[in-house]
Amino acid sequence: MITEITAQELSTERFIADKISEIQDAVGDGTAINALSGGVDSSTVTMLGHRALGKHLKTVFIENGLMREGEPEQVADLFEQLGVTVDIIDAREEFLAALEGIVDPEEKREAITQTFYRQVFGRIVRESGASCLLQGTILTDIDETIAGIKRQHNVFEQLGIDPQEAFGYRIVEPLIELRKDGVRKLGEALGLPAEQFERMPFPGPALAARVIGAITLEGIETVRKATTVVARMLADTGAFQYMAILHEDRVTGMRDGERDFGQQIEVRCWDSVDARVATPTRLPPEQLDDLAREIIREVPGIVSVTYNIATKPPSTMEAI
Ligand code: XMP
Repeated sequence: MITEITAQELSTERFIADKISEIQDAVGDGTAINALSGGVDSSTVTMLGHRALGKHLKTVFIENGLMREGEPEQVADLFEQLGVTVDIIDAREEFLAALEGIVDPEEKREAITQTFYRQVFGRIVRESGASCLLQGTILTDIDETIAGIKRQHNVFEQLGIDPQEAFGYRIVEPLIELRKDGVRKLGEALGLPAEQFERMPFPGPALAARVIGAITLEGIETVRKATTVVARMLADTGAFQYMAILHEDRVTGMRDGERDFGQQIEVRCWDSVDARVATPTRLPPEQLDDLAREIIREVPGIVSVTYNIATKPPSTMEAI
């Protein structure tokens, strides 16, 4: 049983001191690896880990080919400025191969988990001689996985999986008692810039969580372009999270007076505090008009744009 520490209860100074000694105890004389995706959780763990271990922590960014436009370079540059060197590991082909032909959401999540932890980290850990992986799992990831709603990519122990046995290394999770609002408070205390600790959540399975049906290079490219437009057009909403989702079904459209059997993008924009429950942001009609126009203008092949108006629950925030 994990005891939750709410954002209100969290004393960042004490928490940081406790976690630094826990991390130092867990790693001992060895070294650790830390996977940075650039999200709030992994950015916060990176800062905490570096305080605890300094050069005994190696930080890697796994380029899985499923990230947003320009993300690997942006994240590496930002952390360089914060004094953390980030190695970008190119694993694009491995992820695409692992996802090939899979349409079931939970099977996609499982393929991503296995590629991350068994294949890619397994190799990095072996090559670097590290004994453990430091990662930013939070309580919400665990809740939903245990409830059987959605297998979050980074949950093992609570499912009876021993990472040491399954992958050959230990996983240390210093943020496990916190939810997103607590992690943001901690990230700020650890010196992350506001753009980073306020950053919108982005799921571990990345854009693979936003393509319904089989994942292809073209599908990822389409959803990546739509994501860029949505991020630009909704940046001023202050929403908890917004996203573009590529649907599998095609619909009849028309372009330049001709039939165009095209693709559909669904936009979701969520108001939420901790991702447990969420409601769609009440966007003004003019903003929805602009959004549709820009997506159709900038993303090739799209003839339909919809806006999700269902709450979580029964929806979840991501589409898979
Ligand atoms: P759902 O879709 O479960 O999402 O309502 C709740 C929050 O969690 C994020 N999410 C994930 N985060 N690994 C993560 O680290 C995952 O596998 C994962 N799936 C969803 C989602 O973006 C939202 O903020």
